Amino acid sequence: MDEKYEKVKEILKKYNQEQLLIWYDKLIEQKKEELLDQILKIDFDQIEELYQETKGKKDFKDCKVEPLSYIDKQKIPTEERERYEKEGIKLIKEGKYAVVTMAGGQGTRLGHNGPKGTFELEVGEKKPLFTLLAQTIKEARDKYDAVIPWYIMTSRENNYKTTEFFKRHNYFDMGEENVKFFIQNELPMIDTQGKILVDEKGMVKEAADGHGGIFEAMRKEGITEEMEKRGIEWIFIAGVDNVLAKMVDPLLTGIAIDKNFLAAGKSVVKNNPKEKVGVFCKKNNKPSVIEYTEITDEMAEKVDENGELLYGESHILCNLFNIKAIEEIAKNKLPYHSAFKKAKYIDKNGVIVVPTEPNAYKFESFIFDAFEKLNDMAILRVKREEEFAPVKNAEGVDSPETASKLYKEYIKNRNK
Ligand code: UTP
Repeated sequence: MDEKYEKVKEILKKYNQEQLLIWYDKLIEQKKEELLDQILKIDFDQIEELYQETKGKKDFKDCKVEPLSYIDKQKIPTEERERYEKEGIKLIKEGKYAVVTMAGGQGTRLGHNGPKGTFELEVGEKKPLFTLLAQTIKEARDKYDAVIPWYIMTSRENNYKTTEFFKRHNYFDMGEENVKFFIQNELPMIDTQGKILVDEKGMVKEAADGHGGIFEAMRKEGITEEMEKRGIEWIFIAGVDNVLAKMVDPLLTGIAIDKNFLAAGKSVVKNNPKEKVGVFCKKNNKPSVIEYTEITDEMAEKVDENGELLYGESHILCNLFNIKAIEEIAKNKLPYHSAFKKAKYIDKNGVIVVPTEPNAYKFESFIFDAFEKLNDMAILRVKREEEFAPVKNAEGVDSPETASKLYKEYIKNRNK
């Protein structure tokens, strides 16, 4: 232990991060050991690099940006549509399809105490988001008479509460062997001077590394390997907070197979040019997403000959990947983006600080940065009212109130 402590001290001195041991003496033995291990796992050169990157904004203006073509679900001729669906259904029935729900986020905007998936949405009665998602998967299992394994990505912070929730709900009667969890990676948070924060328990302050962390986490946690063994070929990946996500979609799958793509994504038309959503595009000839913070007003308002927005296909975090694409993407790290957030910490005088303004950088990678690793992908435009009801904010846009309304409306129309 002494040796380990000395080694850690030396590393911290080298990188000027000695504040990380400020609470060390107050910790119990087991926590002391944990803290040292936590520190030894940090890639300090990477943290230094990420800190330098916070100082200059990445510019995408050097890229060639063009619209990405899409297929409008409403406009596919019936015969063609049936052909795609048949292909997709065959694959699902053969047990080659799985669903992954990304539930490792902190859900700070919603402010729910506990994993976001346990948030109860009023849909006639109150139902947790996980229950609503489970219902969608179960309906598909019944419809296609197939086992559809469900994988859930959690974070170190919410893994215990998430897995306990599923245990209590008996894995929604899908069989424990068909519901698997895996924990995503984390990165330390740093202040504006590049110093890594100490959390309120005296440990390194870390945060989940973004939904783009899914590929590395699936590989590291043996999920892709397990999928391979089960014969899974196509994997639908979506967030935990879209209660209308159509996670088992033979049409999307059939299109991807038919067109020989290794990935496919769903889009909904932007409500208006200023809506705060990322949109699909091509960057340097590769599929990509431009975020609303990056797009110029001129680009956002550009229309084609039919008066449709050229950059109007919103990315709704509902994407389908072939397992080969996931394995390929997982070989390299995706870029990290920094976000300036409020983070509680212990300062150099040993005082717990609860900031009222953002004070620290969090680093996240985004799932859509992986699209650029693919040569092309299919985009299917679907109807917003049928597939997109996100729960993001506590109130206002994309809140429980709007999602609940959309969900109830959808069920009413479906049962007509
Ligand atoms: P958001 O970007 O909306 O983040 O994630 P969030 O954590 O839910 O909410 P805020 O921004 O803190 O308010 C979109 C989806 O990606 C998942 C989230 O759980 C959500 O389903 N996600 C996000 C992860 O799984 N891991 C992450 O590190 C970040």
